[in-house]
Amino acid sequence: MFEIKARDAMARLGVIKINGKKIETPTIMPVVHPNPKKQTVPIDLINKLADVIITNSYITYTTPELNEIASEKGIHELTKFKNVIVTDSGSFQLSVYGSVNVQPMEIIDFQEKIGVDVGTILDIPTPPDVSYERASRELDETIIRAKDSLARREEMDYKLKLNGTIQGSTHMDLRIKSAQEMGKMNFDIYPLGAVVPLMEQYRYGDVVDIILNSKIHLPSNKPVHLFGCGHPMLFALSAALGCDLFDSAAYALYAKQGRYLTVDGTKHLDDLKDLKNFPCQCPICSQYTPKELNKMFVSKNKDERKEAERLLAEHNLYITFEELDRIKFAIKEGNLWELVEERCRAHPKLMDGLRRVSKYMEFVEKNDPVSKKSGFFYTGFESMFRPEVYRHKQRLNRVQMDKIYLTNVSSTVRKPYSENLPNIECDVDVLIKDPVFGLVPMYIDTMYPLSQNEVPELYDYEKKFNNEFVSNFMSKIEEESPEKLMDIHTYNYYTNHSKTKFEKTKETLYAHKDNCDLTRLDKMLQYQYGHKIFDNEIMDKLITKRSKTTKRLRNVMWKDTKEVLFTVRASDNFLIPAKEGAKLLHEKIPAPFHRVVIDPSVEEFAKDGKSVYAKFVIDCDKELRPYEEVLVVNKEDELLAFGTTLLNGKELLEFDYGVAIDVRNGVN
Ligand code: GUN
Ligand code: ZN
Repeated sequence: MFEIKARDAMARLGVIKINGKKIETPTIMPVVHPNPKKQTVPIDLINKLADVIITNSYITYTTPELNEIASEKGIHELTKFKNVIVTDSGSFQLSVYGSVNVQPMEIIDFQEKIGVDVGTILDIPTPPDVSYERASRELDETIIRAKDSLARREEMDYKLKLNGTIQGSTHMDLRIKSAQEMGKMNFDIYPLGAVVPLMEQYRYGDVVDIILNSKIHLPSNKPVHLFGCGHPMLFALSAALGCDLFDSAAYALYAKQGRYLTVDGTKHLDDLKDLKNFPCQCPICSQYTPKELNKMFVSKNKDERKEAERLLAEHNLYITFEELDRIKFAIKEGNLWELVEERCRAHPKLMDGLRRVSKYMEFVEKNDPVSKKSGFFYTGFESMFRPEVYRHKQRLNRVQMDKIYLTNVSSTVRKPYSENLPNIECDVDVLIKDPVFGLVPMYIDTMYPLSQNEVPELYDYEKKFNNEFVSNFMSKIEEESPEKLMDIHTYNYYTNHSKTKFEKTKETLYAHKDNCDLTRLDKMLQYQYGHKIFDNEIMDKLITKRSKTTKRLRNVMWKDTKEVLFTVRASDNFLIPAKEGAKLLHEKIPAPFHRVVIDPSVEEFAKDGKSVYAKFVIDCDKELRPYEEVLVVNKEDELLAFGTTLLNGKELLEFDYGVAIDVRNGVN
């Protein structure tokens, strides 16, 4: 029921289908009061803005008038909301009042009875910082209720979808246990519970710990809901960590107190009242001045005050959805980390949250696409810790280098470095110190993100940041194979030698570089695929082609037949295989690497070049990252097709819905 369409960071632009209705993620579920008289914003507007709402089954159950209508006509008729309706179970009331007047199974039955789309178990929201014993005991009780609730659904043949909430307070081993135990059960959505008190205390570092410890142990194919997160300033960060759903009572609650939401935090109407206009263009803010709205808000006339609350709540809702649309666009463009870094600059506590992410980079990187439409923009020191950088430092080891010369370049040298540095002989591996990416082998420097990045002039401490990485990398080579390190004199000979050429025309420069094209492609393939694809025997049979206009490397072909093996994709300089290239990758990369094994029943479709659906994937390279080029094979490891994987290794095995591989071509 959950399908990924596009992604960036750990965020998933996806579709959830429930009972024939659709939700586009990431999204927010406005909290709607089950009593229409207590609902601040008219349901018409909510119907217009939202795919899904959350309301409360416990209040509905315990309020006789509401219970009667819901029981007879259903929750959709009671709330007048047309699309997906999620209900909470009374757990929040449990956390506030200490007890509730309902049994765990009773509320499951009721949620089914009133036609809820997604109900919630009666979990126990254990607050932060309580004793380990209490958190553990309450978690055990939540897990028992979770099992009972699923058994009840099964036994009664309910069609209700269920939220299985993750608890465990601020004890991370309990959060992990909760995610593992609940993850084994067949819940439809996994909310992360009891984070509201942490958010109220601005403890965003702890929120990040909870999100990531849960995400690491939850199944990847189920949507995750950050329960009680309704402030737009937190959406970008939490979406980037893989939270698909949010819920907001904040839009209405804040309005009652005259509070005006922005993506940078909350303002008070009183603070805005002297502005000529609101800093927002939503229908409310374009229609009213701060002065007018404030006047209504402080009015003694009850109706006027109520009207002001409604208008304020509507602004809060517009701004909330606007931020989600911005996040979705950022996912499509591949610049979500830039948005996150921007948002987290609004408050040092948010920055705590962002900085905490680096602790989990090994996991985060596995979910981050290997290539993005947008370049990498360095927005501040935190950018040093991004998954693109972490990945490059790992993958640097993939590139074989035999005659290494380490060099500094001034920060004014335009990228790619190789187009702006003097030429040298093909067998020399110039390793360029890069302040952000650590070390960049000149032969792969055109590949994403090594050239597709913008970095401002750095402070001295930033320039020094990678010194330790560089010296560790070089020391290791010195210890293991000192003969690979060339000394400065040798290198100077080469640079001086080619400098004369460098000063000639652009044409001569590129003509000279042509000689090294195959070496370059060999290293690029190593970097991208982690294996050596071109041996000497093959190299002799290849020719390369450069673009006549840009002089850039375009493709590589068999010398005799002129069949193309790989095309250099302009946007990221990745080597995209044609049929001949795929065959060569298949021959040179041992199984299971870069492979996705599919079910025999769809073999023929794949051979014809049709997309591969996740449910037909039976095995794969577990180390695949989103947007990598992969080989589609059968159980006998025969090549069937090749294309781009939308899912990483873990997801390929866990998803059973939606497209997994965007197939470029089949072998037929
Ligand atoms: N609303 C906010 N937090 C929670 C939680 O932990 N559990 C439930 N069921 N609802 C919540
Ligand atoms: Zn507005």
